Parts: sequence; structure tokens; C-alpha cells
Amino acid sequence: MADDVLSHAATLSERTIDFRRRLHRRPEIGLQLPGTQGAILTEIADLGLDVRKGTSTTSVVAVLEGASDGPTVLLRGDMDALPLTENTGLDFASEIDGTMHACGHDTHVAMLAGAARLLSDRRADIAGRVVFMFQPGEEGFHGARYMLDEGLLDATGARPSGAFALHITSTFASGTINTRPGPLLASADTIRLTVQGKGGHASAPHYANDPIPVACEIVIALQTMVTRRIDIFDPAVVTIAHVTAGTTDNVIPPTAELEGTIRALSAETRSRVHELVRQVAEGIGAAHGMQVELEIVAGYPVTVNDGDFASSVHAIAGELLGADRSSVMKTPIMGAEDWSYVLQEVPGAMAFLGACPPDLDPDTAPGNHSNLVVFDEAALATGVATYAAVALDVLSR
Ligand code: NI
Repeated sequence: MADDVLSHAATLSERTIDFRRRLHRRPEIGLQLPGTQGAILTEIADLGLDVRKGTSTTSVVAVLEGASDGPTVLLRGDMDALPLTENTGLDFASEIDGTMHACGHDTHVAMLAGAARLLSDRRADIAGRVVFMFQPGEEGFHGARYMLDEGLLDATGARPSGAFALHITSTFASGTINTRPGPLLASADTIRLTVQGKGGHASAPHYANDPIPVACEIVIALQTMVTRRIDIFDPAVVTIAHVTAGTTDNVIPPTAELEGTIRALSAETRSRVHELVRQVAEGIGAAHGMQVELEIVAGYPVTVNDGDFASSVHAIAGELLGADRSSVMKTPIMGAEDWSYVLQEVPGAMAFLGACPPDLDPDTAPGNHSNLVVFDEAALATGVATYAAVALDVLSR
């Protein structure tokens, strides 16, 4: 079966690449992506799928009904781009200034549409259903949650028994599949903090209450908190990445503001860090007679791969591509994904599809989210085949 799926995907390669390039030229940001949605609807129109458009977003859910009854499997591709200007020089580069498919979601859409075509060709042999989830708003807009709220998991009347997503990356060797059991990506929450002092003349700080040294103390103390109070084997990252205070050299400002991110690999450490950030920030403020206003905005949860599911993805990819092209990642990555919401509901996994261009080194190639990132399109057939082979495996159980 394995060779067969790969050669089948190869026959769709030209079409997949062409679709990807059309999407790449016309990137859209956020939850409302009418152009991308329209392109998807056209691309899958001849496949005989049961297609539903989202109501709160421009999502597309397409269901392939097999020839006989069986389980349901969910495959996902996210659709949205990022707010940056492309400088790759590709002849199909973004035509929309300040908007770029720099995270490769154009390739995800094209590969998922390719998998829908491949599996539709095999409808006669399929027992069960495949749900194709085309999702807007992955880049911080919680698009997956909107789709879950709209009944994604009830699209066929039976809950999916497995769920799978690929993410392309330019920093793994092209044509490789990389995943791991357990945590794959971190949770990501935002810290917004204001130290309330009292403004005054910079020459007479005792008449004012200077929030700047207190804000600095908080930044340092948060790093001490992470190393002294968080289990090193269940780690966290706290980064204060934005510091604002003051207007000139001789005025003490009334407030100082800090913004940053919290990353963790378990729900337990995530909530522990929230608690400790508050304790440290408010405690240091109080020590200097200042109020600290702290807001922690919850972002995406930890993306946790089901152990058995991730092991089968690894095995299937090994069979499909050769053992040297399927690897188990030693560590998670501290980025975040809203695929985490789906994996909280359905046993499944995400895997990274390597797509480093052949003339670059994966260790130094411009990464996802770079204005210079380029993906090797030869890897797209690997992605189509992997989506399809994982779906067929779930349906065969
Ligand atoms: Ni992405």
C-alpha cells in the first residue's frame, strides 16, 4: 500500500504545487479569508465531497463518505498568512504588500486538497469517513476553537477516532516526517503588566515614586522564579520582550509597562507559572509601595500528541518514505499551535514535514515566519501521501 500511495501523490504533484503557488500570491490574514476559501471550494468542487462553509469564519469542512461504513478520521490544514513583507524574490511571491504566507499554511491547504483528491480516487476502498478541516486564523486567532464551537467533531454524526495535522518547516531536511509522542509544542500566554508609580522630577526621586527600577527588578526576578521554582524536567520559558517607560532624561514617569510571553509544556506548569508571575510582580511592587496591574491573556494550550497515534505516524512514514526519512524528535518546540484544541478532544498528532530547499542547510536556512523563508515544493507530494496514509491507517483499525 505504502509505495502505491506515494506514487499516487506524485501524480498529483504538479496540481498541488500549482494550487500552492496561487494561494501564495494572494495571502490573507486572520479569520476572514474569502479569497482562500473560494479557491479551496473551487479546487475540491469536482470531488463529490459534502462541503460546509463556516458561519463565524471562512472555514471549510469537507467530508468524504467511503463506500462502506467505518470510523471517522479528521485531517487539518490551516489557511492564514502573516503580516510581513515577502523578500524571497520567488516568481510567485506575495502580490499583497505587508502580507506573506511565511508559515507555509498555503502548502498545508494545497496538500490537504491533494489528500482529498487522492482519497476520493480511492473511495471504493474506503470504509468510513474522512473529514477535511480547512482552518483560518491559526496565527493567534484561535480559528480551531471557532470550528470546534461550530460542531466540527460532529460533522459526520460520529466523533473522529483519530486526528492528524502536518506542519511544514524549512529547518528539517526535505521530505522527512518528524514527530514525537507527548508534548510537541508549548502553551503560549501573554503577560501585560503595569507598575503604578508616581511621576516627578528626575533630580528628586524621593518626591516621586519611580516605577522604572521596580519594573527592572520584576524582569530579573521572573527569571530567578523560573530557574528556582519550576521543575527543570517540566520546563517553562518566561520572556519579557517589550518594556515601555518614560519620555525624556529628566522626568520620572508615573508608570512602567512590561509585556511578554509564558511558554510551558504541561497544564500543571502553565498554571503554576501564572500563579508565580503574579506573586513575584505584585510582591515586588508591594515591597516598593506600588501597585502592579497584571493581566495574563490565555493563548493556545500545550499541543500534546497521543503516544500511540504519534508512534503509528512515525511507523507509517517510515514505511512510506524509508526509515531514514521518519524521525522521532528528541525535544518539543516552544512555539504554539491551536491544533492543541483539537488534540484535547480527539486522540491524534501533529508532525513536521521537512522542506528545506536542497541548496540550503536546515541548520541555517531562513525559518518559518522569516521574510526570506522558502520551502522545497518537492516535499509537497510527501505531505499529501502522509496525510492519506495516516487516514487510511486510522480507517483500517
Ligand atoms: Ni504555522
